[in-house]
Amino acid sequence: MTIETALGIIGYPIGHSISPLFQQAALDRLSVPHRYRAYEVHPDSVGDFVASLRSEDALGINVTVPHKEAVMPFLDDIDDWAAEAGAVNTIVNREGRLTGYNTDGYGFLRALTDEGDLDPAGKRVLVLGAGGSARGVVQALVRAGVGRLDIANRTLARAESLAELAQQRNVPAGATPLDPGQLSEAAEAADLIVNCTSLGMRHGPDETASPLTAPQIPSGSLVYDLVYNPMLTPLLQEAQLAGAKTLGGISMLVYQGAASFELWLQRPAPVSDMMDAALAAMRAREAETQ
Ligand SMILES: NC(=O)c1ccc[n+]([C@@H]2O[C@H](COP(=O)([O-])OP(=O)(O)OC[C@H]3O[C@@H](n4cnc5c(N)ncnc54)[C@H](OP(=O)(O)O)[C@@H]3O)[C@@H](O)[C@H]2O)c1
Repeated sequence: MTIETALGIIGYPIGHSISPLFQQAALDRLSVPHRYRAYEVHPDSVGDFVASLRSEDALGINVTVPHKEAVMPFLDDIDDWAAEAGAVNTIVNREGRLTGYNTDGYGFLRALTDEGDLDPAGKRVLVLGAGGSARGVVQALVRAGVGRLDIANRTLARAESLAELAQQRNVPAGATPLDPGQLSEAAEAADLIVNCTSLGMRHGPDETASPLTAPQIPSGSLVYDLVYNPMLTPLLQEAQLAGAKTLGGISMLVYQGAASFELWLQRPAPVSDMMDAALAAMRAREAETQ
């Protein structure tokens, strides 16, 4: 028997999400009889939807744009990472009590260490962008004991406030405009470069743009692009030209989902099955758009 209301993801819109594909692959792999569904929930209905998760049939839900902050007032408890990020991407129902988590930063770190083979402790990192995802990334890097952070953003004030957050936790940090001329110094010194802007994202503000060019990227660095559609972004192409190691955003997407799965089901997630399903879904989408 398939339980219909156990798990899923809410967003508005939600049609683009590949979470149902890789979460269902994980459930099927472990023969867990639940269906993971996508729910398009209008912002006016978020409170009612969250209340319905207290039902004994519901294990919990993933939360995506634009509801990550809006769900918070309807929860009983918020864990540390979510409170610090000011956003929830996972809700767990335990006997009618709802707890909000944020697995984005944790997923980012696990992908970095397991797929990118890089421990950020003591490393010098350039973060491009200062929006919601950059906040989670900076939070994770600070927790992991990064050595120095440079944050570059189009709106400098947002980079400055993220840099201040890092400084308050005793991490040396600076802010610069997202301007190729002013980025070179921080890029040259970086062990790790993380793109948290929407540049290069399909249907985004500038699909063909890369925040850095190959001559600015050190060959010994790892370049990690959170953008996962397309899988090979303009920045990752530049990084490959520079001879740097690269990591695409699918890895973070899968690891944050795996962490949610483990919170709901209290058992290890089959990460490689989830990764295979996510990559297959993205390849199919890319084939459709060609
Ligand atoms: N792989 C994953 O699991 C994962 C998770 C989360 C997000 N993402 C991806 O990460 C990207 C950012 O997401 P987000 O949630 O952080 O979005 P967000 O909160 O809207 O932030 C967008 C960021 O991109 C910058 N930006 C937007 N348009 C720009 C332009 N034309 N030129 C220069 N900078 C520009 C913004 O700068 P301003 O501050 O100046 O506006 C801001 O820093 C998206 O592509 C998203 O799909 C991936």
